[in-house]
Amino acid sequence: MTSKILVTGGAGYIGSHTTLALLKAGYDVVVLDNLCNSSKVALVRIEKICGKKPIFINGDIRNQKLLEQIFYNHQIAAVLHFAGLKAVGESVCNPLHYYDNNVIGSITLCQAMASAGVFNLIFSSSATVYGEPAKSPINEEFPTETPTNPYGRSKLMVEDLLRDVANSDSRWRIGLLRYFNPVGAHPSGMIGENPTGIPNNLIPYISQVAIGKLPKLSVFGGDYPTPDGTGIRDYIHVVDLSEGHLKALQALDRKPGVNIWNLGTGTGYSVLEMIRAFEQASEKPIPYQIVERRLGDVAECWADPSKAETELGWKSQRGLLEMMADTWRWQLLNPQGYDVV
Ligand code: NAD
Ligand code: WQD
Repeated sequence: MTSKILVTGGAGYIGSHTTLALLKAGYDVVVLDNLCNSSKVALVRIEKICGKKPIFINGDIRNQKLLEQIFYNHQIAAVLHFAGLKAVGESVCNPLHYYDNNVIGSITLCQAMASAGVFNLIFSSSATVYGEPAKSPINEEFPTETPTNPYGRSKLMVEDLLRDVANSDSRWRIGLLRYFNPVGAHPSGMIGENPTGIPNNLIPYISQVAIGKLPKLSVFGGDYPTPDGTGIRDYIHVVDLSEGHLKALQALDRKPGVNIWNLGTGTGYSVLEMIRAFEQASEKPIPYQIVERRLGDVAECWADPSKAETELGWKSQRGLLEMMADTWRWQLLNPQGYDVV
């Protein structure tokens, strides 16, 4: 039996791009996803792009029996753990659902991994664990702060529990990848971010304004202590991010215990700069209006990604215009997301 990589949440936005990168790099992949925020069509599209497909299991990471079966039926070398819920506002309204999915789900997964003797894990964490950082760029030595919402707290809880798990048994090799702001889509335009309902995040929102689905963008706050008064973030192309996962996976062999890597570009852009870049890429005007700040937002947050460069040999390659052009191509080719194959 050849060994495989288990990708939880592999039908989702970042998971689908990483599944594609794994298949292209020659790995065999098992995707476990309950499709609560994704579509099987993403997996069909992956096959169209690279000629290979992952084994797909429609199920929940909280289903202990199912996990046992998966580890029994497949020789799994490592797990890339993307499965989780990610909408900040929804987590405030329904915290138990978030803790159940993200925290209990991760515990159940680790229990099944340990029983099966699988100890290599890459976890999707978030820059949100830095809370309101004293300054940017942010490196991995910055203290974590309790995030302001249940989603963020669930990420920090999982980071903490994974540290305890690794301390308890030296066989664990765990990569905590702290993503900054993932955007963009595969350059084919065949896979991309597929938000349900009105998007919460900036780029999916702008993209739907550009295509005429939404009338205008509300810019949350024009009075931040930044050069143009709007919030600054580190937007990273999802294909760069997927490549970071491969590098982190390969590094586990030489990196025992828990290792943290920021995955960002090291450059921050303001909301107004993002609007201009999208207008340039799409040649569409983006009407906008500056409104009140959004509760819980920080003024600026961007990465010092040098640890990932030194230790993983990974650096983001794709610039802002490429991020916007690829988002726009995905939006134009899939105005209804994955609703049509
Ligand atoms: P996504 O919602 O597109 O993907 C998550 C996938 O997990 C979906 O396919 C969903 O159906 C699946 N899933 C959720 N709960 C599950 C469960 N209990 N069992 C099985 N499958 C389940 O989100 P994404 O943007 O691809 O994010 C992937 C991971 O990265 C998440 O853990 C998220 O918290 C983290 N992250 C995302 C961002 C971002 O801005 N997108 C930033 C930082 C961290
Ligand atoms: C980016 C900038 C907004 C929408 C969130 C999560 C974080 C992580 C990534 C998962 C900010 C501004 C946004 C809009 C706007 N996810 N904005 N109008 O808040 O940096 O991070 O996604 O881990 O945990 O909090 O991303 O895309 O929502 O916002 O002006 O309609 O755009 O104020 O400055 P954020 P975002």
